[in-house]
Amino acid sequence: MTKPIAKLLMAASFLALISCSQADKATKSDASPDKVTKTAYNLSEDIKASPTQWLTTGLDYAETRYSQLSTINTDTVKDLSLAWSYDLDTNRGQEATPLFVNGILYTTSAWSKVQAFNPKTGELLWQYDPEVPGEWGIRGCCDAVNRGAAYWDGKIYLATFDGRLIAIDAANGKPVWSKDTIIDRDKYYTITGAPRIVNGNVIIGNGGGEFGVRGYITAYDAKSGAQNWRFYTVPGDPSKPAENKIHETTKDTWTGEYWKVGGGGTVWDSMAFDPELNLLYIGVGNGSPWNPDVRSPEGGDNLFLSSIVALNPDTGEYVWHFQTTPGDQWDFTATQHMILADLEIDGAERKVLMQAPKNGFFYVLDRITGEFISGEKFANVNWATGLDPKTGRPDIVPEAYYNKTGKPFLGAPGPMGAHSWHPMSFNKETGLVYFSAQDLEFPYISDPDIAAGSFEIKEKTVNLGIDLAAISLPDNQAIRTTVRRSLKGRLVAWDPVKQEEVWRVDHGGPWNGGTLSTRGNLVFQGNRNQEFAAYHAQTGEKLWSSDAQTGIVAAPMTFEMDGEQYVAIVAGWGGVLPLLLGELSHTDDGRVPNRSRVLVYKLGGTAQLSAREDFKPEIDPPLQFANAQSIDNGRVTYSRYCSGCHGDTAVAGGPIPDLRATYALHDKDDWEEIVINGALSERGMVSFKDVLTSENVEDIRAYVIDRARKAPKPN
Ligand code: HEC
Repeated sequence: MTKPIAKLLMAASFLALISCSQADKATKSDASPDKVTKTAYNLSEDIKASPTQWLTTGLDYAETRYSQLSTINTDTVKDLSLAWSYDLDTNRGQEATPLFVNGILYTTSAWSKVQAFNPKTGELLWQYDPEVPGEWGIRGCCDAVNRGAAYWDGKIYLATFDGRLIAIDAANGKPVWSKDTIIDRDKYYTITGAPRIVNGNVIIGNGGGEFGVRGYITAYDAKSGAQNWRFYTVPGDPSKPAENKIHETTKDTWTGEYWKVGGGGTVWDSMAFDPELNLLYIGVGNGSPWNPDVRSPEGGDNLFLSSIVALNPDTGEYVWHFQTTPGDQWDFTATQHMILADLEIDGAERKVLMQAPKNGFFYVLDRITGEFISGEKFANVNWATGLDPKTGRPDIVPEAYYNKTGKPFLGAPGPMGAHSWHPMSFNKETGLVYFSAQDLEFPYISDPDIAAGSFEIKEKTVNLGIDLAAISLPDNQAIRTTVRRSLKGRLVAWDPVKQEEVWRVDHGGPWNGGTLSTRGNLVFQGNRNQEFAAYHAQTGEKLWSSDAQTGIVAAPMTFEMDGEQYVAIVAGWGGVLPLLLGELSHTDDGRVPNRSRVLVYKLGGTAQLSAREDFKPEIDPPLQFANAQSIDNGRVTYSRYCSGCHGDTAVAGGPIPDLRATYALHDKDDWEEIVINGALSERGMVSFKDVLTSENVEDIRAYVIDRARKAPKPN
C-alpha cells in the first residue's frame, strides 16, 4: 500500500468513527444476515445524516439528485473552476454518476471499470477492471456504457456489461464476490445500469430488449451474494408454472407465442425506493421485438412492458403497476428516471412518483397505489392525442400502428425518446423538476420479412421487426442538413403540480446531459456543445459555464470535503444517439468529440485542461471497384449489421471510427481481417464471420467507398 492511500484510509476510518450512522453499521455487520432487521440494511438514515456525501446513484432513495450543499450558489458560482481532471482509459460514452463515501470519490467508466480517487487531488487510489470481453460489445444496443456503482458497508457494487454483479472492497479495489446474473448466456443480455441497495439486497436488472430477451430483475444478499429473489417482468411459457404468481394473470394480455421471442421488458436503468412504504419501484422497458406482429400478433397490452412496477423489496412480490404505453411498439420504455416526492395537489398532500419517459408525457402517480394523478406532454408528441384523465391510458392514433396500416409512421418522439435515461433532478424549494427534453422524429416501417413469413431472430444485430435499411435518409446533403437542424434538445424546468414548463434553455439539438440541483439555487448540466454549465433554478439564466472539450451526457453530482464543496461530472460523448444517428448527431461544427474525463470543480480551482487536439478523420477513399448492385447490397447489409455503431449511412457520430476514413477501406484483405477474422475483436469490433459472407463484406466496403467518395469536401 502506498503512503497516500494509507493516509486516506486513515482519514476514512476517522470519519467512520465520528459518524454515528457509520458506528451503527459496525454492530449491524456483526449480526447474522437473517437476523438483520429491514431498517438496519436501509441507507436512508445514513443519507439523512450525511448531506456532504453522495451514497447512492440518485443521491437518496427518492432519487431526487437535489443536494443540500449551498457554498456554491447563485452568488459564488462565478468563481467555480476546475480543481482537477482525470483522463479515463476508455473512449466510449460515459454515463456514470460518481459516489462520494467516507472521503473517497468513486466512479465507473465505459466497459464497466471502477475508479477510486482522492477527491481533493484527483490522485487515482485504485482502478478495478472487470475485463469485459470486447466481443460482448456487439450484444449491446447502445454503446459499452455504465451508469454507476452502489456502495454499502465497505463495498462497492459493480454490475458489468457482460452481466456480472461484483462486490469490491471499497478500500483497495479487490473483488470480494462475483455473481453471474444472466439466465442464458447465449441470449444478448447486458448491464449498463447502477445497482441499488435496499434492505440488505443488491438489486440489478439488465438490458437486451433489442435482441429478443425476457426481462427480469434480481436481488442478491449484499454480504454473501446469495440470490434472494427474481422478478420477471413478462410472462414465460404458459405451459409451465409461472415463476411469479402475478404472471398467471398477465399472460392474458399477450397473444401468440410471445415467450419464444423473449417479449422484452428489461429493467435496464431506473429504480427508486420508499423506506416508509417499503416499496421498490422499477422502470420496465420496451417490447422485444418492437414490432408486436412478432411477439403478440393479436395485440394486447403486454404487461409489464413500458410500465412502472412496485415490488416488495424483501420478497420481489408484485404490489401494483402503471403502464405508460400499452402494447408498446415504439420502444417508448418506462425505464427513465423516477423521482419520489411529496407534493400538494388540489389541496391534499400526495406521495407521488414522477417520470418523464421516452413517450413524451410527464407522469405524476400516487406511489402508494399506482393511481394516475396527472400527465401532460412535455415535447412534440404525435403518436397519442392525450391521456385519459382518469386512467392515464393514452389515446393512440391509428396511424401509429405501423404494423397494422402497413405504412411508415413518422413518429414523434421516436425510439431515442422525448427524454431518455439522462437523470432528472427535483428541487424541493422551487418545486421544479429539471431534465433534458428533446424532439426528434423517426420513421417506423415494418420489416418486410414479417409479411413474407421469414422473420427470425438473427445473431450479431438488433431484432426489432423494423426495416433498418429503409429508414436511412436519402443521400442528399441538403435534406440531411435540414433534418439535422430540425432536431431539438433543451434543458427544461417542469412544474409537476401544474404540469407545465416553467423555463427552458435551448441546446440546439438532442442528447444533452442529466441534471443536478442544489440548495445553492442552481441547476448543473453538461451538453452536446461541449459545455458544462450552471443555471439559476428559478429563471434558467446561465450563471456559469466551462469548456469541457467533449459532449457530455452523464449527470453531475456534488459533495463536500473539509468544508469545501465540489462538483463532479464524468464527461465523454457517446451512447445510443450519436452511435446510431451518425451525422444527424453532429452540431454545426461537425462530429462531437469524445474526450473521456472525470472533471471536478470547486470555487477558486486552478487546474487547466490540456489543449484540445483536432478531431477530424481524413476521408481519402480509393476508387470504386464495384457496380451499383453491389453498392446497394452493401447499403442494406451495412444498415442491418454496422450502422448501430458506425452510424447511419456510414457517417460516424459517436466515439466509434468513421469507416469512410479507415485505412482498411483501401484493401480487401485488411478489411476482411477486421470484419471477417475479428482482428479488433478485443477492442469491441467483433468478427462477423458466422453471419456475413466474404461477398457481403465486400459489398459493404463498396458501399462505404461510395459514401466516402460522396462526402462533402472540406473547405
Ligand atoms: C457493436 C459495435 C460495432 C458494430 C455493430 C460494428 N463495429 Fe466496426 N468497430 C467497432 C469498434 C468499437 C471499432 C474500433 C475498434 C478499435 O478501437 O480499434 C470498430 C472498428 C472497425 C473497423 C476499423 C476501423 C479503423 O479505422 O480502425 C472496421 C473496418 C470496421 N469496424 C468495420 C465494421 C463493419 C463492416 C461492420 C458491420 C458489418 C461493423 N464494423 C460493425 C464497433 C462495431
